[in-house]
Amino acid sequence: MTTTDPAQARVAERLEDEASVLDAADPLRAHRDAFVGAETSLVYFDGNSLGRPLRASVDRLAAFARDEWGGRLIRGWDESWMQLPFDIGDAVGRAAIGAAAGQTVIGDSTTVLLYKLVRAAFDAALAADPARVEIVVDRDNFPTDRYLVEGIAAERGGRVRWIDVDLARGVSAEALAAAVGSETAVVLLSHVAYRSGYLTDAATLTRIAHAAGALIVWDLCHSAGSVPVEADAWGFDLAVGCTYKYLGGGPGSPAFAYVASRLQDRLAQPIQGWMGAADVFAMGPEYRPAGGMRRFLSGTPPIVGMLAMQDTLDLLEEVGIEAVRAKSIALTQFAVRVADELLAPLGVTVASPRDPAERGGHVTLSHPSMRAVTGRLWTQDVIPDYRDPDGLRIGLSPLSTSFTETIAGLRAVEAAVRAES
Ligand SMILES: Cc1ncc(COP(=O)(O)O)c(C=O)c1O
Repeated sequence: MTTTDPAQARVAERLEDEASVLDAADPLRAHRDAFVGAETSLVYFDGNSLGRPLRASVDRLAAFARDEWGGRLIRGWDESWMQLPFDIGDAVGRAAIGAAAGQTVIGDSTTVLLYKLVRAAFDAALAADPARVEIVVDRDNFPTDRYLVEGIAAERGGRVRWIDVDLARGVSAEALAAAVGSETAVVLLSHVAYRSGYLTDAATLTRIAHAAGALIVWDLCHSAGSVPVEADAWGFDLAVGCTYKYLGGGPGSPAFAYVASRLQDRLAQPIQGWMGAADVFAMGPEYRPAGGMRRFLSGTPPIVGMLAMQDTLDLLEEVGIEAVRAKSIALTQFAVRVADELLAPLGVTVASPRDPAERGGHVTLSHPSMRAVTGRLWTQDVIPDYRDPDGLRIGLSPLSTSFTETIAGLRAVEAAVRAES
């Protein structure tokens, strides 16, 4: 069902015309064609959960299976695969997170890497000062972040200090300053909130954690590849991020870990495996951690899973993260305006920050019918996702999403809200 009210229909048509104008003026528009499926009418609003694949990645995966795995067999490890986690890690550092070489590695899943780094940071802080027994985290952080700090606190005799947040926003400087102190060992925060899209001021929050004598671990899952990050310049200690969202690694691709050079040899991570040992093939009697980023690895690197992200990282380097961010802001601004003009009359509200400086790459729209709306849209090849309470997340991947796709999807949301109300 589409708009029945003629005034609303005129608004929708005007917004469609505007989308065409914005697409024509978009300096990144040609890159959309590089993605599989962009030629179809499917509307994809979930690149912040799983990015669309690049056509180049399809070719890369096939060539790898045929030539490297099939042709080089076990020799591939010595020839290039052992080095791949470090080379791709450095590419993440250059293209997406502002990290100089030698500080970023591709490792395990986000959850496992977060566990390893938060525990390493907690243990180091506690060893330096026995009063530092607290891990600070917000109540609206992603579930895995909250669950793993509770686990670490339980196994290490520490405790969690919770920050309460407004679900339509995120952790403010004031809230963090009130939570940290002489008992804080480590802080774990998301740079962009998974629910609201709130973009924290990571440089300021890092300074606040440091002023309290604590270490800080950043979850960059929703920012890497869509929002500029300056890990070195902002003084980050540690960070972890997903690669299957804006970095195009594919379903379940392994995460990256960043550890500032100044900390690497001071930290001991808890999963002591042979791939993190000083001499991997010595097979020695006891574990001695490698220097540098190798010590944060544990087992055999998931090579197949880290192939595809190389194409997105190449594209990001070519385009530049500032241009990606400019398009991201234009897309989210447009989505907010469509929500105000087309969806607000139906009772839909914007549950994300309105100031683009405080918003990452997705916009959450709230209405009591959104769970049912999401199910209905998926059957129509319009793919957002749903997050409690009542939130429809509109993820707008800057390199693969057009303004025309955005208005088409939001018109489908309008029809679905009418149908479900
Ligand atoms: C913000 C955030 N942190 C952590 C995770 C957990 O990642 P994984 O399932 O790869 O361990 C996710 C997954 O979507 C996420 O969005």
